[in-house]
Amino acid sequence: ESPVVLTTPDGERLEFGCDGGTSVLDAAAQAGAALPSSCRQGTCGSCRAAVTGGEYRLGTHSGQALTPADRERGEVLLCRTYPRGPLSAELPYSSSRILYGGIPAREAVVTALETVAHETVRLQLRLEPDGTAGEGCQFDPGQFLELQIPGEETRRAYSLANTGNWEGRAEFLIRLRPGGAFSSYLRERAAVGDRLPVHGPQGAFGLRETGPAPRWFVAGGTGLAPLLSMVRHMAEWQEPQQARLFLGVEEERDVFGVPELSEAEAQLPGFAFEVCVRHPGPSWPGPSGNPAERLAGALRAASVTPDIYVCGPPALIEAVERVAAAAGIAPDRVFRERFLPG
Ligand code: FES
Repeated sequence: ESPVVLTTPDGERLEFGCDGGTSVLDAAAQAGAALPSSCRQGTCGSCRAAVTGGEYRLGTHSGQALTPADRERGEVLLCRTYPRGPLSAELPYSSSRILYGGIPAREAVVTALETVAHETVRLQLRLEPDGTAGEGCQFDPGQFLELQIPGEETRRAYSLANTGNWEGRAEFLIRLRPGGAFSSYLRERAAVGDRLPVHGPQGAFGLRETGPAPRWFVAGGTGLAPLLSMVRHMAEWQEPQQARLFLGVEEERDVFGVPELSEAEAQLPGFAFEVCVRHPGPSWPGPSGNPAERLAGALRAASVTPDIYVCGPPALIEAVERVAAAAGIAPDRVFRERFLPG
């Protein structure tokens, strides 16, 4: 067994042993600490950490979840990291995201399911009170729940789009994927009143306290969900940072989220958003192109350097990282969540 030491930015220190055939993620769980993760097979990127010392083997993983550039920086996916001796790494999230009792499971009831755009639905659940897992739906904006298809073992992770509350309300914005397991459930048989297990909340993505820097959000499609949660949280707490959001979709029929973002705009002074359509028709009144280009233009005109929060497909995240680097924004002020198929 090799000793592993993981540290968080707020000074928490996890120490446990890990044999060479067990991933660091699994060894941490066996030691009683469930770390943010989702797919557990190297495809989603949610279990990243930065190795600070020691030798390790990295198992097979998606080049989108961990790019060669990430690897050069010493980043790893803990679900695919096998120590070859003493290993130390820094976790990119605070200790509040570590679940010491394991990942809580609850039962939830479908309360609404509606189409909000082409192949895009809003799913609303009510989490049932549970003596051990708690009451209401408490989470940090940016986190996700894994939803389990009723009567099956299959789970899929979806970001919460609303904010924490004591009524148990959980809201999701979901793009229906052809052949996707949860998509097929939603498309073919989901109904109000269905009961399904949910696991979480989990995940390390979230608002960072970096002072007065503006917060700029870039969303690709339903990557809007966790960013909408953050903006709604800012509106609820009347947070003072200036905020902007760029939402990109492919076609006009894909546009969604405008009522929710308009509501936030009315409630939160200093917040503005725009929707850009990559392939607009002649009557589209708004901007066209992709949100990374819109971000680049806005950064050129900006007088202060914002923090960037981005959620969407890997290509968008990489484009935003390039734009941010060109504008002189440090990589540690770009917070990202990749949306990858499970
Ligand atoms: Fe490790 Fe998904 S949990 S990449």
